[in-house]
Amino acid sequence: MPSVPPGGEPAPADGALPASALDGLGTRPFGVYVHVPFCATRCGYCDFNTYTASDLGLTPSSTDDPASPASWLEGLRRELDLAARVLGEPPDADTVFLGGGTPSLLGAEGLTAVLDAVRSSFGLAPGVEVTTEANPESTTPDLLAAIADAGYTRLSLGMQSDVDHVLAVLDRRHTPGAAVAVAQAAREAGLDHVNLDLIYGTPTETDDDLRRSLEAVLASGADHVSAYSLIVEEGTALARRVARGELPMPDDDVLADRYEIVDDVLGRAGFSWYEVSNWASSEAARCRHNLGYWSGGDWWGAGPGAHSHVGGVRWWNVRHPARYSKLLAAGESPAEARELLGPGERHVEQVLLELRTVDGLAVSALDDDGRAAGERAAADGLLSGPDWRGGRAVLTRRGRLLADGVAISLTGA
Ligand SMILES: C[S@@+](CC[C@H](N)C(=O)[O-])C[C@H]1O[C@@H](n2cnc3c(N)ncnc32)[C@H](O)[C@@H]1O
Ligand code: SF4
Repeated sequence: MPSVPPGGEPAPADGALPASALDGLGTRPFGVYVHVPFCATRCGYCDFNTYTASDLGLTPSSTDDPASPASWLEGLRRELDLAARVLGEPPDADTVFLGGGTPSLLGAEGLTAVLDAVRSSFGLAPGVEVTTEANPESTTPDLLAAIADAGYTRLSLGMQSDVDHVLAVLDRRHTPGAAVAVAQAAREAGLDHVNLDLIYGTPTETDDDLRRSLEAVLASGADHVSAYSLIVEEGTALARRVARGELPMPDDDVLADRYEIVDDVLGRAGFSWYEVSNWASSEAARCRHNLGYWSGGDWWGAGPGAHSHVGGVRWWNVRHPARYSKLLAAGESPAEARELLGPGERHVEQVLLELRTVDGLAVSALDDDGRAAGERAAADGLLSGPDWRGGRAVLTRRGRLLADGVAISLTGA
């Protein structure tokens, strides 16, 4: 029996969805997310569902092991076929996103095999956006040329910083300059769009370190930047170092200043924010896959620990790669549990996600308490006054710094 995380109910073994979830399928954006749960080493700050070969007890010869990348790929093919059956007439994918873990560890052959599997189960819509995440140290010009040929259109690279001592605190394996070189090679290989992920607020990072990283981003030709403040996740090596007093954490004022540095430097270079933590140099460079998440679209998340959402049903897969591939080999769905979202939960989710975007949220979507909170937020300069009077709740820059609190107040909570 699948275990039931808090808030979830057991997911059926055949993966079936209630008929109501399939209403309108194909009229909303449809995305496919593929989770690649492998990394060469674990960065000290990361608590994502990812495993090193030694975590999984794998050696180079253990290709048949249920936790191996080969078994994962076999399981993935089975899950995508199951998805196509469950969805009846599966829509073409508007967007495909490989995340991890470290998808670039699959190499060109593995990345091509994954996209072929998505194409054969779902079909790809004309103009499909196909993104893969990648780490600089496992991404070569040959790999980039091969994936551009295979149909990938976008690379999302984990840069985090371009400063040696910051990369060292984060346990990253690449050196300064490496991410910039890969981003440039990606444009030369013909990929349409390149994102660089930055982390700010790492212990020991200074304002000038962050400015240096941003200058490197601007020199790279990337047309998209995601910048997140470092979260000290419980149970990570970083959390233990902070608890032992080895590393100081910056306070909230420093983090707010860093966010403003990111926004100022990128803004001067022609980038605009379109979600609180995401900037693009043009509308075409925005990540359509993530926009689908933020606008209540449908997506099937395949792979260990992946989350899915179709028509108000949200479910998530078992996390361990061996358990994942074994369930699929036995003809069962890898879904561990699911939630059927009621109108109240869907409303809260809509407010929390849409408010973070540059288009904001329709004031008409708010209840009376939410509108009263919005009036106060507009008077306090957290929501743009002209937009509010025009019927939209749109965060000001000060509002972006306090986005979670403003969003919660607008839910009427
Ligand atoms: C989980 S990684 C997967 C892709 C790739 N392996 C990498 O490291 O870039 C995706 C992004 O999540 C972000 N991330 C992971 N853990 C984080 C944390 N504790 N705080 C802030 N950002 C984090 C990093 O910016 C990273 O680029
Ligand atoms: S490479 Fe990426 S996914 Fe892997 S441990 Fe580091 S941050 Fe996490």
